[in-house]
Amino acid sequence: MAITVAVSNQKGGVGKTTTALHLAVATALAGRRVLLIDLDSQANATTALGVAEAGVDTPGSYLALLNNDDVRPAWARPTGIANLSVLASSLDMAGIELELADQTDRLRRLRPVIIAMSDAFDWIFLDCPPSLGILSVNALVASDTVLIPVPPEQFALDGMARLTSTITRLNDAGQTRITAPSILITMAQSWSPEKMRRATEIRQVHGDAVLVAEIPHSNAIDQASGERQPVFMSRPNADASDAYLRAAAQLILRHETKGQASTGAVEELVEQMRDSLQPAPATAAGRKQTTEQTGDQRPKRGRRRRRSNGDGPKIYRSRRRLRQAAGTAVLICAALLMMIMLLGAL
Ligand SMILES: Nc1ncnc2c1ncn2[C@@H]1O[C@H](COP(=O)(O)OP(=O)(O)OP(=O)(O)O)[C@@H](O)[C@H]1O
Ligand SMILES: [Mg+2]
Repeated sequence: MAITVAVSNQKGGVGKTTTALHLAVATALAGRRVLLIDLDSQANATTALGVAEAGVDTPGSYLALLNNDDVRPAWARPTGIANLSVLASSLDMAGIELELADQTDRLRRLRPVIIAMSDAFDWIFLDCPPSLGILSVNALVASDTVLIPVPPEQFALDGMARLTSTITRLNDAGQTRITAPSILITMAQSWSPEKMRRATEIRQVHGDAVLVAEIPHSNAIDQASGERQPVFMSRPNADASDAYLRAAAQLILRHETKGQASTGAVEELVEQMRDSLQPAPATAAGRKQTTEQTGDQRPKRGRRRRRSNGDGPKIYRSRRRLRQAAGTAVLICAALLMMIMLLGAL
């Protein structure tokens, strides 16, 4: 039976799709058979994996919810990533809440879809839309657990509070069987004291439910989404890449071993995921390509880029940069000294 995770937060733009996508890819890199079900009419998770939106000939999550008795694992479409398939969404999904409104089982339409897929996959991730409407409740009812991405900002925290109280109500009513909800801090900004304070508060209030890894606010993520590929593929060394691998490893171990994951076990699984990523080519041409691929971490020769790699204001990432900065400081001091001497001579 697959372990099903709803990635949900009522607040929009908190990183649900980015998180569902990267956790699904990382879990596939760990050798698990993974299905990502896109429940959002924006279909961002679908297209981010290079898969076309669902249609009449290519069934997806919309038809699956309408005709849940017909669903077969073949409806899941393979992606360019080994072990990872997607049940594609489409714009049609925007009208589904109205279409299901009269159905008595409208909150339990997704459960049979998960059951139909369950033997073909080890993990199923659900990318939920930004609301607590019929689709999100369907996702909660069909899931074993929920993962709540939350940036350290007030409105996102409010969204999380509403979601957790909805889960409590559904659990109490026997509608859901959500255990061990996880919280993932996303878009963290280590240079903002206010955001750091909120992130600390989230950890104090929610304890072990909060995954250890924190996803930084990252240009690498932004650029990767523009290129329609997961950040692991284009920028494997970015801090955000590392954080998503660690978050996925902890989540996998939390549910597969039914306990808190030890640091050693997380490291081991992250290594396994990294090994599954394409090895860096060893040729000169390959090195050139690798440098281009990790662009935001390795400044090109001759270009002065006093900016972070997108994962925080870490200006002096390498000793080379530090030496450059020291050299510049010495030159400035020498110029100042000469000016003072000139002024003195005048
Ligand atoms: N860690 C991050 N750093 C920088 N940008 C990010 C990060 N995570 C997500 N983003 C960007 O923020 C935007 C919103 O992210 P995403 O679509 O994942 O959020 P969402 O919660 O799924 O949104 P919606 O509620 O509309 O479905 C996207 O442009 C995405 O590329
Ligand atoms: Mg989304």
